[in-house]
Amino acid sequence: MRIAVFASGTGSNFDAIVEASRQGSLDARVCLMVTDKPNAAVVGKARSYGIDVFAFSPYDYSSKRDYELEIVRELKERGCGFIALAGYMRLLGKTLLGAFEGRIVNIHPSLLPAFPGLDAIGQAMEAGAGETGVTVHFVDAGMDTGPVIAQVPVTIDKEDTRADVQRKIQQVEHALYPQTIHKTITKLMKEVPDYDETGTTERIGQNRY
Ligand code: GAR
Repeated sequence: MRIAVFASGTGSNFDAIVEASRQGSLDARVCLMVTDKPNAAVVGKARSYGIDVFAFSPYDYSSKRDYELEIVRELKERGCGFIALAGYMRLLGKTLLGAFEGRIVNIHPSLLPAFPGLDAIGQAMEAGAGETGVTVHFVDAGMDTGPVIAQVPVTIDKEDTRADVQRKIQQVEHALYPQTIHKTITKLMKEVPDYDETGTTERIGQNRY
C-alpha cells in the first residue's frame, strides 16, 4: 500500500510514520509528502528520507478545487491509495474528499469532540482540564470531525507546563498514529476485495469534480 502524508509544520508525526514504515510495523510505503507550507521543517525531513514532496502555496491558485485537483493528480501518478493528515492545518474540499472517500485519516491532540481546531493543547490547559488526549479519525468536510477510529487519554497534572503536556501528547501520537494507520489499511483491504490502490483514476476520467 502506498500512502501520502499531508503536513504543515514540524513533521514529528511524519517522522514516526516513515520510521514505522521502514521498520515494517506499518505495512505501507510513503509515496508523497504534501504540504501547503513550502518552508515548513517537514519538507527538509521528507527530502532527507528521499521521499517526493509536493509543496504548494494555496495563494497561487484561484480555488481550493484547483490545487486539490493537482494534488489528486500527483497522488494518482504515484499510485497512492490512502492519505494520513499529520498536522495539515487546512480543511479538505470536495475534490480530495470525493477522490479518497473513506481513505483519509487525521490525528488531533485532544479527545474529540473536545477542543477541536487550533491549539488543542492550549485550549485544554486554559479550560483547566485534568485530562486530554489524542484522537485518530476519518476525515470529513468539518474541522476535526468524522468517525473516531482510536482515542488515548493523557493526564494533565497540576504542575504540568505546556511543554510537559505537549511531550506526553507527542509520545502517544508517535506510537498511536502509525499503528492505527496500519490497522485501518489492513481492514480496508480485507473489506474491499477489489481494493485498487489507484482507485481515483476512473473518477478523474469521468470528470466528477
Ligand atoms: C500534532 O500534534 C497533531 O495532532 C496536530 O498538529 C501537530 C503536528 O505536529 N494536528 C492538529 O491539531 C489537527 N487539527 P507534527 O508536525 O510534529 O507532526
